Amino acid sequence: MSTGWSLYIDALVVLCLAGCAWLLWVNRTAPIDKVGKGEPLEADHDGIRELNNPLPAWWTWLFVLTIVYAVIYLAFYPGMGSYAGLLGWTSQGQHEAEVQAANARYGPIFASYAAQPIPALLNEHRAVEIGSRLFLNHCATCHGSDARGSKGYPNLTDDDWLYGGAPETIVTTITNGRMGNMPPMGVAVGGDAQVKALAQYVLSLSGRDHDDALAKQAAGTFATLCAVCHTKEGTGNPVVGAPNLTDDIWLHGGRVADIEAQIHTGRISQMPAHGNLLSKEKIHLLATYVYSLSNEPQAAGGNR
Ligand code: HEC
Ligand code: HEC
Repeated sequence: MSTGWSLYIDALVVLCLAGCAWLLWVNRTAPIDKVGKGEPLEADHDGIRELNNPLPAWWTWLFVLTIVYAVIYLAFYPGMGSYAGLLGWTSQGQHEAEVQAANARYGPIFASYAAQPIPALLNEHRAVEIGSRLFLNHCATCHGSDARGSKGYPNLTDDDWLYGGAPETIVTTITNGRMGNMPPMGVAVGGDAQVKALAQYVLSLSGRDHDDALAKQAAGTFATLCAVCHTKEGTGNPVVGAPNLTDDIWLHGGRVADIEAQIHTGRISQMPAHGNLLSKEKIHLLATYVYSLSNEPQAAGGNR
């Protein structure tokens, strides 16, 4: 804080306290000398009469006490500009102390979980529980508190994966984030009519009702322009996060209009990287939770 600001705040604090003290002082006796003590002031207001009495002593003393308290508080804690206070307390210092205490307490637990492979942890009820808490804090905004996602945000409870559902793959997804990028294809495929035909072809891949003649007409275009990412069969490619188009599970909506729009304008979807925000141990537990949503615990052992 610059000296100017510091002095400005000092002045404000002193003025406020002095102002309160002054108000108390001038109101300590009956307010108006011309009217006798206890006599009514002016006329009634809606049947309420104001009498010429001083403020009650207990009330005045309460305020005197708050002023004394403020002075003592300002001596011990920061509040007067850049003066740090006799105790040297800072909110950051308190936060760091709390974090250290938490690390000392939970560190060994996290470390012991981090040393176990994710599939084995499914048997540890508490590990999954901690993971689900972390999920609510860091992931639920996008994926929903039940992890079922919504339009544009993948459902993490089914066995359908954009990038793959192996434990290490989930860890990589959370740590580094992902960017799904489908370029706009409207022009490349030859305009609106072709987009409509391609959408019918996409519908045919998952056995949905479709116009067979249009779909057949677009098969060639799909093979040349779309198969690079979605594969020839349309089963998708986890390396680039191209969705499987044959399972009737839709990231961006399964209506004909949704599919046509997707082909027309493409899409860039981003899963933000969490490697800088969360420790490896926490990511391990998060991945455990996500993995638990579509995998059963192993039969042997455990205390689940
Ligand atoms: C800002 C929104 C957002 C947040 C926060 C977020 N995600 Fe995601 N996540 C996405 C999007 C969008 C995708 C899909 C990316 C794509 O389409 O390429 C995704 C994809 C994923 C995938 C890949 C799914 C698959 O099918 O392969 C996993 C796993 C995942 N997220 C887990 C998490 C976890 C765990 C957290 C919390 C640490 C989290 N996400 C936080 C938006 C988010
Ligand atoms: C460069 C790779 C690439 C090419 C080429 C490509 N796509 Fe995609 N496509 C993707 C990716 C990646 C996504 C997922 C985008 C996201 O994460 O939001 C996607 C999503 C889709 C979806 C939405 C699926 C859903 O679940 O909602 C459809 C439909 C689709 N593509 C059809 C096509 C068709 C038809 C073509 C050819 C005209 C095509 N794509 C070409 C990469 C590609």
